[in-house]
Amino acid sequence: PPSILRDTEDGSESDMGENYADINWEGLSFSLTQTDYMHVMKCTKGEKFSQGSLIRYGNIEISPAAGIINYGQGIFEGLKAYRTEDGRILLFRPEENALRMKMGADRLCMPSPSVEQFVDAVKQTVLANKRWVPPPGKGTLYLRPLLMGTGAALGLAPSPEYTFLIYCSPVGKYHEGGRLNLKVEDKFHRSIAGSGGTGGIKSVTNYAPIYTAVTEAKANGFSDVLFLDSATGKNIEEATACNIFVVKENDIFTPAIDGSILPGVTRKSIIDIAIDLGYKVIERSISVEEMMSADEVFCTGTAVVVTSVASVTYKETRAEYKTGAETLSQKLQGILVGIQTGCIEDKKSWTVQV
Ligand code: COI
Repeated sequence: PPSILRDTEDGSESDMGENYADINWEGLSFSLTQTDYMHVMKCTKGEKFSQGSLIRYGNIEISPAAGIINYGQGIFEGLKAYRTEDGRILLFRPEENALRMKMGADRLCMPSPSVEQFVDAVKQTVLANKRWVPPPGKGTLYLRPLLMGTGAALGLAPSPEYTFLIYCSPVGKYHEGGRLNLKVEDKFHRSIAGSGGTGGIKSVTNYAPIYTAVTEAKANGFSDVLFLDSATGKNIEEATACNIFVVKENDIFTPAIDGSILPGVTRKSIIDIAIDLGYKVIERSISVEEMMSADEVFCTGTAVVVTSVASVTYKETRAEYKTGAETLSQKLQGILVGIQTGCIEDKKSWTVQV
């Protein structure tokens, strides 16, 4: 095994061969499967991250007074590793995740790994867990980098110590059905959104506040909720785990990145692909009414990839949209996934080989 690997707990060498883990690769969903290794790197406040290491996947010990537990000082990322038909493993724009993590870290007063350290740690994590990267067409290895205040402090202040950790899991589709029926949420807002809030970073504190709304929506037969801006309550922002796009005739609209919308890597890539195809992409505020009269609506995200929206319900009104093979979202998804999995030439150098 490469020197980056520590010995396994039982003293055996880790499986770094071409073998696949012994699981049912046909049945992957977006859920946790424990893998072999995780990457951990620590630093104290005021210092820089230096050397990380791979350790066996498992529970971590943390002080009850840690910043992440008490005051939510933490952010996460999400990216995937793709196995190509010819046996390579690719990452998709991992430096974008590193930059976004840095932006989030700055906002939450945390040190962050450099882009190089981040990408290197991701590569090491993938290599150490190679047998968990699903065969082509069966899914992807989802990587979850975390950056959190793990030092103990009782008072409200930045944590004295930080941990950057990456674990991973093989995953399948995020939304099983593939077509979303969204409910526009008119009671709760997403995160500490709005101007000057944290909606634009992947703060851990942005996610649990969606549970009440999405649980209620799912109980009523919806797949997910779509949040409105907290300033006016009139414009669409994003769903619980993805950005949103609206298609009207030949134009594509998506909410502008204004500090409360997450700057999705998939969002950014889909915009570029659409522009290359000759579409006009307009980033601006989009009212619920505009969305209700659109031809097509779709969501983008690392986990959801590109997923068509079949319907949106706002109060008592339900709008239905075009879905299926002939839609623009399917065309864009085909190109994106083609690049990610090495089936389409990567002219923009978006992929990074592990
Ligand atoms: C991702 O798409 O990587 C996400 O972060 C979604 C996650 C909340 C499941």
